[in-house]
Amino acid sequence: MTIAAPEPKENQGRPEPRVDARLKVTGEARYPADFALPNLAHAVLVTSSIARGTVTAVHKEAALAVPGVLDVLTYGDADALENPTFGNGNMTSVQPLKKRRIEHDGQIVALVVADTFEAASEGASKVRVEYRPEPASATLESEGTEVIPAVGNTQNHKEDASVGDFAGAFERAPVKLEAEYRTPAQHHNPIELFSTTAVWHDGDLTVYEPSQSVHGHKNALAKQLRIDPARVRVVSPFVGGAFGSKGPLSPRATIVALAAQKLNRPVRCVVSRMQAFTTQTYRAETRHRIQMGATPNGRVVAFSHEGWELTSRPDNYVVGGTDATTRIYDWGAVQSKVSLVKADRQTPGYMRSPPEVPYVFALESALDELAEKLGMDPIELRRVNDTMAEPIKKSPFTSRSLMACFDEAAKAFDWSRRRPTPGATRNGDWLVGYGCATTYYPSNTAASTARVRFSPDGKVVVQTASHEIGTGVRTVAAQMAAERLGVDVTAVAVEMGDTSLPPAPVAGGSNSTASVCSTVLKACDAIRARVFKAVAEINDSPVAGRAASELDLQKGEVVAGNGARAKLADLLRKAGVGVIEEYAEFIPEGGAPDAIAKLYQGQTSMSGGSHGKKMMFAFGAEFVEVHIHRLTREIRVPRLVGAFAAGRIMNTRTARSQLMGGLIWGMSSALHEATEIDPRNARIVNRDLQDYLVPVNADARDVEVLMLSEVDREVNPAGVKGLGELGNVGTNAAIANAVYNATGKRIRRLPIRVEDLL
Ligand code: MOS
Repeated sequence: MTIAAPEPKENQGRPEPRVDARLKVTGEARYPADFALPNLAHAVLVTSSIARGTVTAVHKEAALAVPGVLDVLTYGDADALENPTFGNGNMTSVQPLKKRRIEHDGQIVALVVADTFEAASEGASKVRVEYRPEPASATLESEGTEVIPAVGNTQNHKEDASVGDFAGAFERAPVKLEAEYRTPAQHHNPIELFSTTAVWHDGDLTVYEPSQSVHGHKNALAKQLRIDPARVRVVSPFVGGAFGSKGPLSPRATIVALAAQKLNRPVRCVVSRMQAFTTQTYRAETRHRIQMGATPNGRVVAFSHEGWELTSRPDNYVVGGTDATTRIYDWGAVQSKVSLVKADRQTPGYMRSPPEVPYVFALESALDELAEKLGMDPIELRRVNDTMAEPIKKSPFTSRSLMACFDEAAKAFDWSRRRPTPGATRNGDWLVGYGCATTYYPSNTAASTARVRFSPDGKVVVQTASHEIGTGVRTVAAQMAAERLGVDVTAVAVEMGDTSLPPAPVAGGSNSTASVCSTVLKACDAIRARVFKAVAEINDSPVAGRAASELDLQKGEVVAGNGARAKLADLLRKAGVGVIEEYAEFIPEGGAPDAIAKLYQGQTSMSGGSHGKKMMFAFGAEFVEVHIHRLTREIRVPRLVGAFAAGRIMNTRTARSQLMGGLIWGMSSALHEATEIDPRNARIVNRDLQDYLVPVNADARDVEVLMLSEVDREVNPAGVKGLGELGNVGTNAAIANAVYNATGKRIRRLPIRVEDLL
């Protein structure tokens, strides 16, 4: 594995170390639960031990008798709250402590507040709750679920894509494949625990909470608390992992705010790892049915993808991955349908590459199966069906380097050594398998705002309420400002994660780098225009009279096209110009005119993917080598190789880190991770990191990331395609395909475990 940061290729930025790296490794970076507050009280949740039924009594006397316990909030204490609206910045419509109805396992039933965390914990253990339980439907296979179409019942999936006569084309196709695939529930488990700290001051509320959407949280909190959003501030300068789990407002936040109001002192609630499994969101389990009809030379002339996704009784959460699977290759006729299966579970939510991870596992496994049937190399099958326009409306891709990624990755991986016959390659007692899969992710860009301040001494401040969830967005924002203003990255200070800053979109859908960099670019260009206008008017300067288009800012100098240059600081002094500040509002092409107004209300307006006039996607090819022990069936992954093309890469170091993390998580998803639901009572069984399996370093040995040079002038002004979620999409299928190559066993249900291969 190479440790050195990758050398930038064309259209790739320098591998600057993270601007906040030192803060993070020295412990100086303050995460939301780290802020010291005077007179802080601590809160601990009490959660339900049934998944469905009614709370008949809450006995809090024993808890109140614990020394240090201040209060126990339960039914009756939250009646003043407005109910949350699902899909509008809230993760569920269930407001705990209002109705005594239990909708899912581990629902919040009380909040114990004490002088110390220990007293609150002891108090929480002494709250006794009585229930009238009802039988609960646990999962996709359970009795008593309700199955409804996603179309007409959800906001995020409005149409089941189709084109041509699928039934006829499938019937006539000489080669046919039909298969079902399943993916499990998974939990994000960010290392930074979930938390809320609420402080009231003269009717103004400050909330410290790890957040992917500070303006979203601010507005959702204000609405539920029925106060003016101007009175709410949300602070989240660093986030220790999120992956979608910290996007919507949790049902806990408002209760903690109520407790702080009631007690008239700051209250902090850090949620335990175990309680996070039921009080936050998760990736829902899915089922897929794929049908493909092909010609003998591999043209897929008929494609059908049906998906079933689990959701809760009260909320219709959907990911609807067929929006993309129906458009990603040059299918002939297409049909698709997404259904929701409503069970007695908490409402699922976004988790890294929400639609792509389950739906692409099905798609890319099926393509591997079809290649086997056709006797074709799996890469060639993808080449035959590659396209620059999607098949439904023939919308063109703005750029697509899928096959170039396959070619580069295949070379680095040495795919030519693969033997198509399963089990043909051995290494001592180990069966060796090679597999590959396509990965893709929609290139989203969202409306955003930013303020940039440029001082004559070359210092720059960038302010935008975006979110550093570990991706390096602070660093790339600094790089964009440094590039446009001709200063070193170290001269740029970036302020993020606070609603007192200009709003930025949710850190979701991999849009942050594209949106923030496009907005910073716009603000910096406005500053450049002002600088160039001012300096051109100074008669005795070497750059006098030059048009702005002829001028550039480089290393603290104004440089003209003819090579003339002068120190910027001198010019600005002569021009009598001090600090220049620009506030920019950026709306991506085709975005709604009210996108900025909505952003101030905490709502993100995203463009990109398959929903506009053009298809905007980043692509990659992922290759894996698996070793499976001949006798024990132990599964090892000695090698992961991914080649990716995602437009302009702002920083090859931070980009590689995202892609590498994605590949490793993809491997984990294929082989380790699954949330086990007890089918008898719809409760989560493995609610900690001891039983919820995640990989360790020894599980990820050689991980190679190749980043292709790609230029896309259409996706957004920055030319950036987000890649935070690109890495973990194809890995599941690549591993299943490699397991087949090693063993001849086709595993269509994740995760793949030793017992599947016996
Ligand atoms: Mo990401 S799951 O789009 O926050």
